[in-house]
Amino acid sequence: MRFLGLLCDSLAAIAVLAACLPVAALAQASDSSSGLAVQLSIANGFLNGTTDGHVTVMFTPSGTDPMEDTDVTSSPNLFFGMNVYGVATASKVTMASTSIINTVGGVWGFPIVSLDDVPAGNYSVQAFLTKYEKVTRSDGSSISVHFPCGDGAPNINGFGSLTTAITNVSITGDPQTVNLVFNNVTATDAFTGKEIGGCSQGNYEDTETLKYVKIRSEVLSKFWGRSMYVGANIVLPSGYDADDTATRYPVIYSQGHWAADAGPFRYPTANFSEAWDNGTIPGDDGRADRPTPKMILVNFRHESPWYDDSYAVNSANHGPFGDALYDELIPYIDEHFKTIPEPYARIQVGGSTGGWESIAGVIFRPDLFGACFSSYPDSLDFHRHQDIPLYTNTNAYLRTNGSAIPSIRDFENGTQVILATVAQENHWELTFGTSSRSSLQWDVWNSVFGVQGLNGYPLEPWNKITGEIYPAAVQYWRHMDLADYIVTNWNNSYNLGEVLRGRLYVYVGSWDDYFLNEGVQEFQKRTDAVGGRGWANITILPEKPHGGNYQDREIWDYLELVYSWIQDHGPNGTTPLPRNVTVSSSRGNNFTEVLAYGGHQAALKRQAPPSITGGDHCDGAGGCVFQGSVGRWDPGVELEAQWVVSGKPVGEAFGVAQGEALSYAPTTATKRSSIQLWVTGRKLGYVDETRKSNGIMLKR
Ligand SMILES: *[C@@H]1O[C@H](CO)[C@@H](O)[C@H](O)[C@H]1NC(C)=O
Ligand SMILES: *[C@@H]1O[C@H](CO)[C@@H](O)[C@H](O)[C@H]1NC(C)=O
Ligand SMILES: *[C@@H]1O[C@H](CO)[C@@H](O)[C@H](O)[C@H]1NC(C)=O
Ligand SMILES: *[C@@H]1O[C@H](CO)[C@@H](O)[C@H](O)[C@H]1NC(C)=O
Ligand SMILES: *[C@@H]1O[C@H](CO)[C@@H](O)[C@H](O)[C@H]1NC(C)=O
Ligand SMILES: *[C@@H]1O[C@H](CO)[C@@H](O)[C@H](O)[C@H]1NC(C)=O
Ligand SMILES: *[C@@H]1O[C@H](CO)[C@@H](O)[C@H](O)[C@H]1NC(C)=O
Ligand SMILES: *[C@@H]1O[C@H](CO)[C@@H](O)[C@H](O)[C@H]1NC(C)=O
Ligand SMILES: *[C@@H]1O[C@H](CO)[C@@H](O)[C@H](O)[C@H]1NC(C)=O
Ligand SMILES: *[C@@H]1O[C@H](CO)[C@@H](O)[C@H](O)[C@H]1NC(C)=O
Ligand SMILES: *[C@@H]1O[C@H](CO)[C@@H](O)[C@H](O)[C@H]1NC(C)=O
Ligand SMILES: *[C@@H]1O[C@H](CO)[C@@H](O)[C@H](O)[C@H]1NC(C)=O
Repeated sequence: MRFLGLLCDSLAAIAVLAACLPVAALAQASDSSSGLAVQLSIANGFLNGTTDGHVTVMFTPSGTDPMEDTDVTSSPNLFFGMNVYGVATASKVTMASTSIINTVGGVWGFPIVSLDDVPAGNYSVQAFLTKYEKVTRSDGSSISVHFPCGDGAPNINGFGSLTTAITNVSITGDPQTVNLVFNNVTATDAFTGKEIGGCSQGNYEDTETLKYVKIRSEVLSKFWGRSMYVGANIVLPSGYDADDTATRYPVIYSQGHWAADAGPFRYPTANFSEAWDNGTIPGDDGRADRPTPKMILVNFRHESPWYDDSYAVNSANHGPFGDALYDELIPYIDEHFKTIPEPYARIQVGGSTGGWESIAGVIFRPDLFGACFSSYPDSLDFHRHQDIPLYTNTNAYLRTNGSAIPSIRDFENGTQVILATVAQENHWELTFGTSSRSSLQWDVWNSVFGVQGLNGYPLEPWNKITGEIYPAAVQYWRHMDLADYIVTNWNNSYNLGEVLRGRLYVYVGSWDDYFLNEGVQEFQKRTDAVGGRGWANITILPEKPHGGNYQDREIWDYLELVYSWIQDHGPNGTTPLPRNVTVSSSRGNNFTEVLAYGGHQAALKRQAPPSITGGDHCDGAGGCVFQGSVGRWDPGVELEAQWVVSGKPVGEAFGVAQGEALSYAPTTATKRSSIQLWVTGRKLGYVDETRKSNGIMLKR
């Protein structure tokens, strides 16, 4: 907390940061002559050919391992990030001062933005180089991302990353260059311990009751133009017999972060696994022993180039992960295990990321799943994205009254304590990757909820540095706003108002660490308004934080609740799930449509060049005036316009807003001059682009 507290905690500091770092100011600040530089090179034998990638350098108090604590709420580290392009063993890469992150040589630091401002002192310093692979997706766009490899896509030090030794450095405050050499490479087994063949077809070693499967996904491999795999960790119930052809079991699909070799509920853990395996729940509170509910528990493994999991839906940036899990992997599981392959016997559960995934799974695939028990899900309704009023605010980091929007909180003795703001967390993420490639929380939301930008990367909903919200980009999030999606498809051919009734169970605590109770309340408000009170079964428990099982139940009460839902809704139950609520016409999140809405072709269709009209009266009668439109650009692109006469710029280039109408009355033009409007667009992560309008001949 040392530097965090000093520099970024107060509202004033955030406002200053936002105010003093527009793009132009960053460019001017890149004077490294009197500052601190870090020079990086790659030792022989550690890189064949060249690579693009991202370097993160961490300074930590002397004698500490910089990887020991990299968390935004507690790390003592100074983080600096920079993209690198075409580096080879012979290259020397220099990080210095601050220029525009996402351009060649651009450096971004957190919580200290510029290397020049690193306080004098003794540090342990280490650098990491994450390698990017350039791929061409099936929709024609090309991007450079890091593909994980059975390691759960950590945000730093993932499989194949180059690392330097931890180096003691004394920073003097005078001009100085720190030299670091990449001379080590991170292997898969550094993380997972034992996954066999993590990058491809392999699995962990099975036990009696915990089984691992992995398949090459045809749809994902086709989309990404390379082999892609999805897997699952499967816990079998006590008494499961592979040779018994009569007995079949319902399945709990437990969603959540990368589970490595652990099963759902982080099985095997002492206690749970023991009772699960022997089929007896130990009695307590005067209750006798009772049998464990007999179900199969499944946890998916679906790491993606953007995060430790894909959010289990089809999205323009991740690709068809929903189809890979639900149309390829589940049929494989149904084929190889004794499941009851019926919607009533497929239940989605999970918390947080898994909370969102589990409810989205039922909302998008009511044909496949019976119900969800979703706990403290990520934002269900973007009227509150965590605590950000995303549809109405102009800035994601500041409230309208100027105070910082918090991101992570704790309650101590009933008093709320803010551990990080949205600005801090986003600025920290930026040191691990630009264009939403940090493999961290806010970035993965951009990649799942948003569409693809013209540059091939997620169309970010706000400027990651200043927090300025781009409403036009946010509009593209609506199809992943689950409340919006339900209400929009309430009584059309999807018929969700009837189809989903009684199938969505959601729990959150009012003291959720990430303000996720806000989005749940918005979801409840909107669905209750159309469906009547209690349309979705929502529990908000007072003063409960993030974590725990559904409704904060003890594990067996939780599993018994789910099991009783399945019994009640089975063919012999009290309220069997009718056939007409599991029809394919209610299936949503169709990947063809998702891609048509937000993939590369959609990004191309959003664009238009500038155009001009007019010049009708330049022969003398009336004024000679041209009207110009700047064309259409991605949200957040800053524009500069230039009138051009016969190929030569006339007057100064000037800033214009998107959608702004321009006019021009030529004064210097002579007969037979051709008038044109050139518009240059600039945005972090985009290549500067100048587009030229049609030309009109002056008839004067
Ligand atoms: C470089 O290529 C050689 C020969 O194919 C291979 O043995 C070596 O492992 C490669 N090194 C790296 C760092 O990829
Ligand atoms: C780095 O500094 C720490 C703390 O001062 C010390 O314990 C350690 O031995 C030093 N490491 C090297 C390689 O000099
Ligand atoms: C840094 O370490 C050196 C010895 O390596 C010591 O002389 C100096 O006082 C230390 N500086 C600070 C600021 O602790
Ligand atoms: C390389 O990194 C691994 C950890 O990933 C570490 O165990 C090993 O000691 C390092 N090797 C060298 C030469 O620093
Ligand atoms: C079993 O779980 C209880 C409650 O979570 C815990 O108090 C106990 O220590 C656990 N026992 C073992 C052997 O892990
Ligand atoms: C099953 O395991 C539980 C502990 O989880 C234990 O209390 C119980 O005695 C065991 N039952 C049998 C039949 O082994
Ligand atoms: C700004 O508004 C928030 C939320 O309503 C409130 O908690 C905070 O105290 C206000 N801050 C100031 C400086 O008025
Ligand atoms: C919370 O209460 C405990 C016990 O009274 C006290 O030791 C602690 O300092 C309090 N913490 C805060 C943040 O007030
Ligand atoms: C399903 O059929 C039942 C009985 O015919 C009917 O009451 C119900 O409205 C239908 N539900 C849907 C979603 O079509
Ligand atoms: C909501 O679900 C809980 C179980 O989680 C159940 O006890 C309660 O009766 C349900 N409420 C309604 C209104 O159906
Ligand atoms: C439903 O009950 C019938 C008759 O008792 C039985 O044959 C059948 O197996 C039961 N089905 C299920 C899914 O339990
Ligand atoms: C998805 O939509 C496309 C085009 O609208 C359609 O051809 C296709 O059948 C749909 N796929 C599914 C699984 O419904």
